[in-house]
Amino acid sequence: MEKIVSLCKRRGFIFQSSEIYGGLNGLWDYGPLGVELKRNLKNYWWRVMVHERDDVVGMDGSILMNRAVWKASGHEETFSDPMVDCRSCKARLRADQVIDKKGVRQCPNCGGKDLTEPRAFNLMFKTYVGATEDESSMTYLRPETAQAIFVQFKTVLEVSRKKLPFGIAQVGKAFRNEINPRNFTFRAREFEQMELEYFCRAEEGMLLLDYWLKERLKFYERIGISRGKLHVREVPEEERAFYSKANYDIEYDFPFGLQELEGVAYRTDYDLSQHQKASGKSLEYFDEETKQKFIPHVVEPSAGVDRTVLALICEAYAEDQAPDEKGKMETRVVLRFHPRMAPIKCGIFPLLKNNAQLVEKAKEIVDLLRPHMYVFYDESGAIGRRYRRQDEIGTPFGVTVDFETLGEKDATLRNTVTLRDRDSMKQRRVAIGELAGTLLADIT
Ligand code: GAP
Repeated sequence: MEKIVSLCKRRGFIFQSSEIYGGLNGLWDYGPLGVELKRNLKNYWWRVMVHERDDVVGMDGSILMNRAVWKASGHEETFSDPMVDCRSCKARLRADQVIDKKGVRQCPNCGGKDLTEPRAFNLMFKTYVGATEDESSMTYLRPETAQAIFVQFKTVLEVSRKKLPFGIAQVGKAFRNEINPRNFTFRAREFEQMELEYFCRAEEGMLLLDYWLKERLKFYERIGISRGKLHVREVPEEERAFYSKANYDIEYDFPFGLQELEGVAYRTDYDLSQHQKASGKSLEYFDEETKQKFIPHVVEPSAGVDRTVLALICEAYAEDQAPDEKGKMETRVVLRFHPRMAPIKCGIFPLLKNNAQLVEKAKEIVDLLRPHMYVFYDESGAIGRRYRRQDEIGTPFGVTVDFETLGEKDATLRNTVTLRDRDSMKQRRVAIGELAGTLLADIT
């Protein structure tokens, strides 16, 4: 992890938030490359979950909602971790982190035995809406995006004219005042979720849960996370919410252990029923065929953007051997991102920066590719160094414009370039006119 965190900072993927003021625990900023990686992930999720399906539509709800939402959903009452304070070292600990030695509770920090009883600590951030700061104006920053979908279920159903089963997808920020933010961005206080609420009839729930688990596993493989590093955990009844009928966690083998990436949960009709009861507004579905009215059940695949970005970086990080300028083997740090996810798709290099024709041709290629993908032009330093810089940030392709491109050595090679593959480091000649098509086949 140390190497990964340091690379992320050095190359502009992820920085500590408000760093010049000492930072703020559990909060992170994404730099120029991190933001591209994150966008590629969110866009691909949206493409697979919304655009490529007939049965899912999207929405974008507000982060602040009426406090009544959080009362009805149960978050105000129960969205808490039991906490224990150590009176010796003053550490605040999640109750499940306390060591139990033959019935004696011990602080994992200092070994002290003087601990308070567990107390509930609500994870939602409070805030006030409007000019007065009192109970009547209080609400919370949303701890999950799902609730906006539930409260707008009826409106979205009506405007989209969908029939069951159908889903509503959303990507957006969520906030939790985690007690122990840790493992880099893995447990943060501000993060993004990609959630689908898939509404169905009660009798379809269990089958759809398994369907969505399979779909979600396919998704991870399509973004370059190997199946061997993913683990499906069936959440046992005692760990599930009382209303949940079944629940899978998709876990990833991070360098710090096997940890949850996504939950695929069968939430029954709990959420819609709660909001119908609390708001007094019908959230029922009318089945035209059977003429029945009922509250749909819901299956929810809920993934974390930041955790998946971290998994992508962990999965991609590799060190191998590559020849330097003089042909001597040296250690190469390379991020082997799937081309779909890579922040920059192609580096474009004129062999020499002081040759006007090479530079002009390389810039023409930049203009040719830019409408299709994010490319990077680099003319500084030896060509091997330029390749290495792109390898380290995971750029899958490199295009070099050389004298053959200008037709100086062999007229048949005029307007062809060297296309280098990041992983194999193999090079081949490709006609400039075929470049966009060749690259698009791999990155889309
Ligand atoms: N709507 C259901 C829900 O929010 P969750 O298991 O609490 O379920 C879903 O959260 C996903 O959100 C998790 O699998 C994880 O990827 C991400 N997530 C939750 N808490 C997080 C945190 N503190 N930091 C980063 N990601 C988090």
